[in-house]
Amino acid sequence: MNDSNLDAEKRLAAEAAAELVEEGMTVGLGTGSTVAHLLPAVANRGLIGIRCVATSVATSEQARGLGIPVEEFDSLERLDIAIDGADQIAPDRWLVKGGGGAHTREKIVAAAAERFIVIADSSKTVERIAAPIPLELHAFGLASTLARLGAELGEVAPRPDTPPSPDGGVIADLRGDVGDPAELAARLSAIPGVVDHGLFPPAMVAEVLVGRGNAVERA
Ligand code: 5RP
Repeated sequence: MNDSNLDAEKRLAAEAAAELVEEGMTVGLGTGSTVAHLLPAVANRGLIGIRCVATSVATSEQARGLGIPVEEFDSLERLDIAIDGADQIAPDRWLVKGGGGAHTREKIVAAAAERFIVIADSSKTVERIAAPIPLELHAFGLASTLARLGAELGEVAPRPDTPPSPDGGVIADLRGDVGDPAELAARLSAIPGVVDHGLFPPAMVAEVLVGRGNAVERA
């Protein structure tokens, strides 16, 4: 499928998700090219009283430019809904996120949401989760953390030409065999220096909207 067809699928999924946002809701806005379609769709609905938080500077800037109110994520304890893209979606709803390096903030926002909605084009559905798995690593002790990851879990390398996260973290990718995502997620979380990883568990996901051709599949 060519890029313009995939882009149309992203837009379909994003527009379906925008319909789930209601007046007065607190809303988490994800990051990426699929979310870039979500923001105008939300703005066009002219919803009164929504309060939004953004998972990246790029999303924050695009949303504000469209008239969507975005605030810092420091006073809201819970969100009604969060909507975000994904890099891989497995049949059991394990996700890989972080292609844009925003997975730490994205996971915090998803976890805070009553409903976390995933939007994607059809290329993101996979039979099983595979590398690369995005990581955010503390800059402090980076060489030591990379060495530990390499010894315990496989090849890992900082992502070339990628700026630090807004929180100062180094974006890297883990390669090699993923095996059981739950086991890998637990092992990654147990390594000091790993701020967070791009594996999102099924329990976090309320709904998956995938654009496929001219339709939106709900999983
Ligand atoms: C950013 C992400 C994105 O949601 C993910 O990479 C999907 O991006 P896109 O919508 O551009 O395909 O996790 O960190």
